[in-house]
Parts: sequence; C-alpha cells; structure tokens
Amino acid sequence: MSIELHKMGRITNPTKPEEDKYVFTEGIDYFTTGTNSIWGAGDKDTLQILKNADIHGKWLNLAAGDGRYNLYLLEKASSVVAADIDGSALSKLWHNTQKKYRTKLKTKSFDIAKKFPFEDASFDGVFCTGVLHLFPKEVLQKIIFEIGRVLKPDGRMIIDFATDIKRTSPSGKKVTFGKETVYSLEGAKQTLRNLLRDYQIELHDSEVVEDFEAANPPYILNCKFIILMANKKE
Ligand SMILES: C[S@@+](CC[C@H](N)C(=O)[O-])C[C@H]1O[C@@H](n2cnc3c(N)ncnc32)[C@H](O)[C@@H]1O
Repeated sequence: MSIELHKMGRITNPTKPEEDKYVFTEGIDYFTTGTNSIWGAGDKDTLQILKNADIHGKWLNLAAGDGRYNLYLLEKASSVVAADIDGSALSKLWHNTQKKYRTKLKTKSFDIAKKFPFEDASFDGVFCTGVLHLFPKEVLQKIIFEIGRVLKPDGRMIIDFATDIKRTSPSGKKVTFGKETVYSLEGAKQTLRNLLRDYQIELHDSEVVEDFEAANPPYILNCKFIILMANKKE
C-alpha cells in the first residue's frame, strides 16, 4: 500500500493580473486548459541545456507556471519547490506530475517581486523562465538579489530572458502587458552581466516565434532571448 504524504486540491479560481504591481498572471482557471502546458512543450535550446546541465540537490522552479519544464528538474534533482503566484497554475502542475515524482515535489505560492519565503542558502539551484524580462531593472535587481540569497554558496541558476519582444494578437493587434520594459539583446546582456558580477556566467542566444493560443489574451510571440547559466562564486 502506498501512502501519499501531501495531496494538493484542484485550485480553479483565477489569479487576476495586476501589472502595475508586477503580477503578470493569466487570470484563468488552468483546469480548463487541458493537460499540456499553455506555454507549449518547451523551447528546444532550453530543453537541451536542461538535459545536459548538472542538476542535483534541492531546486527552486521560480514562476514555474503550469510546469512545462518541471519534470526535467524532477528527473534529476533530489527535490523541487515549484513556485508561482498563481495557485491554479501550481495546482495543475501538481496534478500533472506522476505519483512517483510527487514525493519530491513541493509547491509554494508567492510574489517574486517581494522577499522570497525561504531561508538564506536553502537551494542548490534556481530555475526561472519566461518571466524575468517583464520586470523593470530595479525590480529585476531585487529578484536577482533574492535568488542569490536563497542559493547555496556554490549554487547555480539557469534563467532565460526575452528581448526585442513583439506579441501579436490573432487579429494582428499589438499585445503588451502594462508598462512593461522592452529590453534589447545587448542591453539585457549588459544588465545581466552587471547584476551577476558574483557569478561565473555562460550566455546563449536564441530566438523564437511561438503561438500561445491558450494565453489570456492569445498571442503570437516573436522574440530573441538569452539563456543564462550562472554559478555562484564561493
Ligand atoms: C509566461 S509564464 C512562464 C511559466 C514557466 N516558467 C514556463 O516557462 O513555462 C509566467 C509565469 O509567471 C508567473 N508570475 C507572473 N507574475 C508573477 C509574480 N509577481 N510572482 C510570481 N509569479 C509570477 C505567472 O503566473 C506565470 O505562471
């Protein structure tokens, strides 16, 4: 007989976006979106990096959404905390996770623009995709500081950062989120290098055109992006 240690309910109430407070949620019940992630199967370069990267110990999947990359972390790490401000996204992630992995999965709902609810040096790694580019530099700086605080001295982060973003609705209209900062590729690289002076970093350039038809509102994303691996200098 197997005993399930932690059972998560189905959270169906949407988390409303409040862009002026840096809450960039979809405002949807994720249980109406099918089992696949609304963000697709994952970017090929990011998947390649995840497959090859040394991922061990305890990882934090920050702004994990409905979990398109979470299984890749669960396969390698000894435990994963999937975090997002949107409880419905996290609950879909948990329900989509095979039982054999649930014992090493925890979920935590919080706002990444505020102090993270974890002790200093509690994670071996932090993974964060699809969200950091939405924040202005001063908030990004706070988030990078918090990531550094919760990472162990020799910890590692794997993040991505979208630049030169163009979103177009199915009817051809421009889609933007509040007064978001649009970073250029070179500007973002400079900003990230400045913020990550205490890390050894490796940057990869990539680009994507992808149809996010289940996003709210639906849009086609056309952007460049940086995939960054950073190891904290001890
Ligand atoms: C584009 S999705 C990316 C999800 C996932 N990281 C991925 O790559 O598939 C952005 C995610 O950030 C979350 N988010 C937005 N604002 C947030 C905030 N202030 N604090 C925590 N999570 C936030 C959203 O709920 C959403 O799940």
